[in-house]
Amino acid sequence: MVDISVDTLTEAQAQEELLALAIVLDQANRAYHGADDPEISDAEYDRLKKRNAQIEARFPHLKRSDSPTDQVGAAPTDGFGKVRHSVRMLSLSNAFEDQDVKEFVAGIQRYLGHSDALAFVAEPKIDGLSLSLRYENGVLVQAATRGDGAEGEDVTANALTIQDIPHQLQGAPDLLEVRGEVYMSHQDFAALNSRQSERGGKTFANPRNAAAGSLRQLDSRITQERPLRFFAYSWGALSEPLGETQMQAIDRFKALGFQVNPLTRACASPQELIEHYRSIEQQRADLGYDIDGVVYKVNDLALQDRLGFRSTTPRWAIAHKFPAETAWTHLEAIDIQVGRTGALSPVARLTPVTVGGVVVSNATLHNEDYIIGRDSNGMPIREGRDLRVGDWVQVYRAGDVIPKIADVDLSKRPDTATPFPFPTQCPECGSDAVREEGDAVRRCTGGLICPAQAIEKLKHFVSRSAFDIEGLGAKQIEMFHADPVLPIKTPADIFSLQTRDAAAIAKLRNRDGWGETSAANLFAAIDQRRSIDLSRLIFSLGIRHVGEVGARDLAGHYQSWEALVEALDLARPAALAHRKADQAEQAERLNALAEHRRARLKPIRDAAIASYDVPADAASAWADLIGVDGIGAVLGLSLSDAFANKTERAAFDELRLALTRIIPPEAPSSESPVSGKTVVFTGTLEKMTRAEAKARAEALGAKVSGSVSKKTDIVVAGPGAGSKEKKAKDLGITVLDEDGWLALISA
Ligand code: IVH
Repeated sequence: MVDISVDTLTEAQAQEELLALAIVLDQANRAYHGADDPEISDAEYDRLKKRNAQIEARFPHLKRSDSPTDQVGAAPTDGFGKVRHSVRMLSLSNAFEDQDVKEFVAGIQRYLGHSDALAFVAEPKIDGLSLSLRYENGVLVQAATRGDGAEGEDVTANALTIQDIPHQLQGAPDLLEVRGEVYMSHQDFAALNSRQSERGGKTFANPRNAAAGSLRQLDSRITQERPLRFFAYSWGALSEPLGETQMQAIDRFKALGFQVNPLTRACASPQELIEHYRSIEQQRADLGYDIDGVVYKVNDLALQDRLGFRSTTPRWAIAHKFPAETAWTHLEAIDIQVGRTGALSPVARLTPVTVGGVVVSNATLHNEDYIIGRDSNGMPIREGRDLRVGDWVQVYRAGDVIPKIADVDLSKRPDTATPFPFPTQCPECGSDAVREEGDAVRRCTGGLICPAQAIEKLKHFVSRSAFDIEGLGAKQIEMFHADPVLPIKTPADIFSLQTRDAAAIAKLRNRDGWGETSAANLFAAIDQRRSIDLSRLIFSLGIRHVGEVGARDLAGHYQSWEALVEALDLARPAALAHRKADQAEQAERLNALAEHRRARLKPIRDAAIASYDVPADAASAWADLIGVDGIGAVLGLSLSDAFANKTERAAFDELRLALTRIIPPEAPSSESPVSGKTVVFTGTLEKMTRAEAKARAEALGAKVSGSVSKKTDIVVAGPGAGSKEKKAKDLGITVLDEDGWLALISA
């Protein structure tokens, strides 16, 4: 590579080169740590790294968030073996206010359908990283990090060096997975950092980073020198129960020789939970290790079982976080970023400031209302104070989330500061940016012609929960998107990369950091993904409102790509009619509100629908779509629009052609007598709440629907069931009472 002198680089060249360097150095790191033939020499690595630093020094504002400069001895994620967790490692939902805690408790009571007092356990939330330890016949056989919850990294050798982790257990169940938090004490952290700086090594921003960096070392001798500790608080797979309550399980851990947190308490009411929270908050500074809140868990394990999980968090636990740390700094600029769905997101560029041990230089500003000091309901935030470039602002970080701006000091506002003019044109493609009625977000209307939307969609397409193509991450997408020789503009372009043209491929192979092996690896990884799960495929399209759960619901309902596409095409006229009816209703609602004549609404809406001449099969396909549990009209319309949009549809069709196999979803639990069946609950349930009934039916592989149709298999009718029960009987569908249902699912 012939380098242009850093002094003469233009800003655009610098930006491009920083991206290229981020990719090459990242690749070199992986190759090196993974010990499979490094593609560049150590000297070349050092030279590139130095050049990266020089460019950053000249253009500090162009420094990337994933800059190689910050990856000193970077976490070699590819160096560890992968471990699939037998029981997923989940995260916790958060409570910030006392009111959230009361709602958490009330929500559980509602879900369980009783108002009896519930017993809880409250314990500190340790600010470290979670680890799962697997003991077989009392011997530690595996230690794994959380990873994405489903799959983590095998860090067994490193875990064995941690004093608090027993290698053998006496009297443990044959199979026991102990889960807990690895952390570093304040004292050990300070000592480590001063040792590191004496040796000229990397110092850590906070104990959490130090613990993570130490646990995820490929050389366990390094881990051994780092004083890590471990608290046990939870478990995964078990061959026998640890007790009947959370507290008994914790006592069992203690008896087996684990450290459990001494501030773990039983609490009988929301008031007691909050009292214990306050008491822990007061002791926080003296604990000698970082905690970022208090975790509350339902004590009775049978109730934990009944409550179960949402997609990534348990219903039976919550983390009550401590108030975020804050700092004051200057708001230097407001930039607009354009996202995958065209949303114009304002970002605050700040004079870097340390908040809770981390340097912050950007903060999210959400949307234009947030800047002018209004929330989504038009209510004032910051007492209505707006934010202007040049302001003195208060920044806060709550947990891992992106920093936010809490307040602004008007006494320090420069006279020259003017209100921020929010763009009404997309800064990336110049298309109109519009705000739809009731939407807080202004969106670019450019669709796929907007390069920002196209690139964000592509990044989403290759992300972990979507196509997840090894070696083709966000950075590579940025590079390929801009590549004049081998551009990737649509998902299908990824799959034609290898066959595009020989000269282009040769060029790719000779590019910096892209040896013969890495090109071959990339092509192999792409080919592997020509066979893909239907739910991943749907999610990967990046359609607004279609998240992982919605994609799974759609895949479960339609079972094939072709069936989904056919249904959407068929339903299109009804979708359009639905939207018009909604608009008519909205307009009418405004009038009605003005005239206090709300009562007239429903007839008008019905008339609006009837006035659209929609074929019966369209109406029924549409009803079927929005009747899928968890789908509804908002998602349905967004999906319908995406498939009806010419450019998007062409991209979907082309992608389909590039794929060889679309794998239908597995029936979740084929042994259950209700798996694959469509069930409708109607009337009053007496032994469980609607939410619980639904969650249990789904866990057994049933589909729960809100309306009765020919596709319904079972209707569970409680007292007071009306038209749905009648319709079921007319259609000859099995109707059960609640006891009949319970007998069926426990059979
Ligand atoms: S219980 C199924 N208890 O917080 C729920 N988690 O935000 C299992 N954490 O991934 C988690 N202290 O790494 C639990 N006392 C505690 C905890 C704790 C820290 C971490 C854990 C988890 C994260 C969720």
